[in-house]
Amino acid sequence: MPTTKLLITSALPYINGDIHIGHLVEHIQTDVFVRFQRLMGKTVLAICGADTHGTATMIAARKAGVSEQQIIERQVARHVADLAGFDVTYDRYGSTDAPDNKVLVERIWAALNAAGMVATRDVTQLFDPVAGTFLADRFVKGTCPKCGAADQDGDNCTVCGATYAPTDLKDPRSTLSGAKPELKSARHWFVELEKMRPFLEQWTQQSGAVAPAIARWIKGAFLIEGEPLRDWDVSRPAPYFGFEIPGAPGNFFYVWVDAPVGYIAATVEAERAHGRDGLAWWTDPAVEIHHNIGKDITYFHTLFWPAMLKAAGFQLPTRVHIHGWLTVNGAKMSKRDGTFINARAWLDSGLDPAGLRYYLASKLNGSADDLDLNFAEYQAKIDADLVGKVVNLASRTARFVPALAKSYPDDGGRFAAAAAESEAIAAAYARLDTADAVRRIMALADRANEYVEAAAPWALKKDPGKAEELARCCTVALNLFRQLCVY
Ligand code: 2FM
Ligand code: ZN
Repeated sequence: MPTTKLLITSALPYINGDIHIGHLVEHIQTDVFVRFQRLMGKTVLAICGADTHGTATMIAARKAGVSEQQIIERQVARHVADLAGFDVTYDRYGSTDAPDNKVLVERIWAALNAAGMVATRDVTQLFDPVAGTFLADRFVKGTCPKCGAADQDGDNCTVCGATYAPTDLKDPRSTLSGAKPELKSARHWFVELEKMRPFLEQWTQQSGAVAPAIARWIKGAFLIEGEPLRDWDVSRPAPYFGFEIPGAPGNFFYVWVDAPVGYIAATVEAERAHGRDGLAWWTDPAVEIHHNIGKDITYFHTLFWPAMLKAAGFQLPTRVHIHGWLTVNGAKMSKRDGTFINARAWLDSGLDPAGLRYYLASKLNGSADDLDLNFAEYQAKIDADLVGKVVNLASRTARFVPALAKSYPDDGGRFAAAAAESEAIAAAYARLDTADAVRRIMALADRANEYVEAAAPWALKKDPGKAEELARCCTVALNLFRQLCVY
């Protein structure tokens, strides 16, 4: 029987920042799933990389007086090192600026054109005359058109909650240069998603690629009865750091076009290193493709991305695993409160990265619910679970025995009972419900500790006539400990 192959990804972090604990939720979710599948004998390719294109990278390069490629090289190395600090490694941590990605994006673009899904029309946008660039919503600030609150973002007001277009702002200004933006018109290229509607309905609602709650949300938010899907604006006029659109000089693919294609490019690079064809992973129906993403980027991965794959004849994701956001002590991560914690800061603080892995694994449950990092609970879990239940099992028995019993003693069925749990634990890992897996494992640890309490090896040790009983007790405890470690 052929081994099942799984391609498992994490969303590609933006190049314009370091890895922080919010990212780690996802990378740990992915890494646990990767390790589980490998333990189950599956062939796994773990893929990630940096999301490099867009105005922000261009501006950062200008400011630092270096090339975008220099920024990418430096920052990819930081991402990789920070992830490795948490024992997270990928078969390839690529970059969306890679030559392979350009080739693939052009191939998919040609397929979208051939399918008659591309249209053009003029779009009027705010333009920064000093920075010489069109402004994405987040680069514009101004006065809310509804309530008059000052210094609001280009797309929504944090005071009254209104949403609007940046062109609606009163006194708009560019956050790049401070200049007053001008209105300027330019040609844009669009993908007409509505032409794929029957496919997208089927794939999102019936294929099992997303959880039922997510399928319902997609239906309610995008696949609305009687309303066509909005065309997707996939181009940005120069200046823009990205891949130029073939046949459209001075126009570039919007960052979200080439970002997911980066999954394929990194696969190609990973496999090329072993003399193999990475595209096979995206064309072989026997391969399972699993994406791990945060809930904020659901529509990119469940509408645009499958449409691109479908047009180009690539395999579709088997499952998009969507997690929620991380809060810290019950509140949104914030730089001001010191709860926006970079991976590097965690490592430098001397806190054990394995502690965060364990804590997050004990909370992740395969749903898109937000999860909270609570430091009191963190401390309690490490002390009570890892130290009190698991490590303690070995530490209070291993030191008493010079040698284990010759054959495995009667343990009241404990080892067999824990072995019988393996199916349920594996099923929990398989559905990314690591909280359930951890609960089950800790329940086994409780049962093992009850055994040690009752057998009291520290008392047996004092009685020379009970040496064999002591060896039996420690043999059982250490075997139960080993079982827990495997799980
Ligand atoms: O939201 C983000 O952080 C994006 N950089 C994720 C990209 S995922 C993929 F499509 F590349
Ligand atoms: Zn307002």
